[in-house]
Amino acid sequence: MQAPDWDARYAEKAQWSAGPNELVAALLDDLPPGRAVDLAAGEGRHARWLAGLGWDITAVDFSAVGLDRGRVEAGGDAVRWVVADVLDWTPSPADLDLVFVAYLHLPEADTVDLLSRAIGWLRPGGRLLVLGHDLANLAAGVGGPQDPSILHSVDRLAPVAGLLAVDRLEQVSRATPAGTALDTLLLGRRAA
Ligand SMILES: C[S@@+](CC[C@H](N)C(=O)[O-])C[C@H]1O[C@@H](n2cnc3c(N)ncnc32)[C@H](O)[C@@H]1O
Repeated sequence: MQAPDWDARYAEKAQWSAGPNELVAALLDDLPPGRAVDLAAGEGRHARWLAGLGWDITAVDFSAVGLDRGRVEAGGDAVRWVVADVLDWTPSPADLDLVFVAYLHLPEADTVDLLSRAIGWLRPGGRLLVLGHDLANLAAGVGGPQDPSILHSVDRLAPVAGLLAVDRLEQVSRATPAGTALDTLLLGRRAA
């Protein structure tokens, strides 16, 4: 889906405005706040939550309509909102404590290129957290994109994990009203 498709989707109704994903909240809740970017932030549910914890956060997405929804939600005024294609965007200055990417699904080569580049934005010890729909979700889970070429898996994220000191790289389950969904989680730190 391109930016106009996402704009139309966000214009129709709020999508993911509520609080953060439970696993994300559990993984990041205790981290000392610092400088972060949320790539493909959508309505900024994670960016607004992180801002509330004291993070200096930039939310990037190519859907202006999605970001506009987030801007007016509670906590939206504490987030820096940037309309940009994440494939062309670079933070300035870099030296980030956290790069966060939730449910951004691109062709596999673009995903690996983007995440590899994003690791270069981290300070030594800074974290990359990636969460998205797992390839196995097509056969054994519910919801999410149905195009296998854009889904994550442990194998597909392995080249990115190879650039990090890895804390977690695994398939995880997520309870939804429609049933269990399968996601891929990658959490790692940039080596010193
Ligand atoms: C499923 S939503 C996830 C939103 C948010 N991360 C969350 O978890 O609530 C995917 C988002 O990716 C954005 N997106 C997709 N491709 C993008 C690109 N190349 N550059 C910037 N944003 C992109 C869409 O606009 C959309 O907001």
